[in-house]
Amino acid sequence: MTEKDFIPKPYNKTIESGSFTWQAPSNIALVKYWGKKKHQIPENPSISFTLDECKTTTTLKFEKKIIEDNELSFDIFLDGKKQDDFKPKIEAFFKRIDSYLPFLKEYHFIIETSNSFPHSSGIASSASGMSALALCLMSIEKQLIENDVTLSAVERSFSEEYFNQKASFLARLGSGSACRSIEGDIIVWGNHKEIEESSNLFGIKFPFEVHNNFKNYQDTILLVDKGEKQVSSTVGHNLMHNHSFAEQRFAQAHDNISKLIKIFKSGDLKSFVEIVESEALTLHAMMMTSMPYFILMKPNTLEVINKIWNFRQQTGSNVCFTLDAGANVHVLYPEQESEQVMKFIQNELVAHCQNGHYICDRIGFGALQ
Ligand code: DP6
Repeated sequence: MTEKDFIPKPYNKTIESGSFTWQAPSNIALVKYWGKKKHQIPENPSISFTLDECKTTTTLKFEKKIIEDNELSFDIFLDGKKQDDFKPKIEAFFKRIDSYLPFLKEYHFIIETSNSFPHSSGIASSASGMSALALCLMSIEKQLIENDVTLSAVERSFSEEYFNQKASFLARLGSGSACRSIEGDIIVWGNHKEIEESSNLFGIKFPFEVHNNFKNYQDTILLVDKGEKQVSSTVGHNLMHNHSFAEQRFAQAHDNISKLIKIFKSGDLKSFVEIVESEALTLHAMMMTSMPYFILMKPNTLEVINKIWNFRQQTGSNVCFTLDAGANVHVLYPEQESEQVMKFIQNELVAHCQNGHYICDRIGFGALQ
């Protein structure tokens, strides 16, 4: 597939108005995406667990404009309140995807969105938000094509595979990691030599066998710091250009995915812990060694990490942590260890969460209409 495969043939824009709703989950990367080229092409492949509980619900209402003005026109509401400060991001997204969805300028859109997690939780809503919006837009395209009587029956048929691929492709243009939030339960994004179907343009389901140890894996998200990050992901990605360790880091990500392919098959939890924690710390090491350098971890992030290491040493548990581009800690563990690990979290880790807040999540299976 190339970018061109996502440009539709001209269609008759026969639909006057309508509305679609999608619920899309967040995801947590095991091998991290950090560094990108032009047009949101990742510098290295990444792999993630799709989450279940943390999600965005978006309703997209659309109405044909009376006067064709060749302009983008939309309003955004978060929890029923108009959010004009989101407009520049969505406008930039719409401009990037305009050539792939040629109906965008023909309609006025109302985007109504809400998140299952609190806004000020420090959990980024860009992955779930962009994927929910991309899915709503795909539903419009699907309806336009299916309703177009000038097309042949074959041209009008719209496979689920193409729908998901293009939704992921569009979501990527909104926010890179969003392309991993369309399906579940394990998603790979970015070319990798051992995964033939992998692509820099969209996420795909992990195509190999996965051991039962990794079914229903748990992710308890400790909200260590709910404040806004001082450095956005986009700025961080750009600091990987000319970074002294960039090439080694990108090669390491390829290597870690090769290792994970074997680990997912064998069920080797000890090796899983090693890769996942090393990836999280490498991500933050890249931040600390870029120019300008920055630190997103907080003292409580380190407290939690040390307690997890102690607990593992004392009990032989397979609990581990990962981090995204912030201070919050994702505590990952197999389902069969839930009882023991939840006790540990409540007794020892919750004290390091802001206002004692945490979210119990687990692997999920993708977006729902
Ligand atoms: C650290 O997808 O938020 O969470 O493409 O600029 O929107 P943009 O960045 P974003 O970066 C996510 C980075 C990460 C790692 C990951 O999810 O793989």
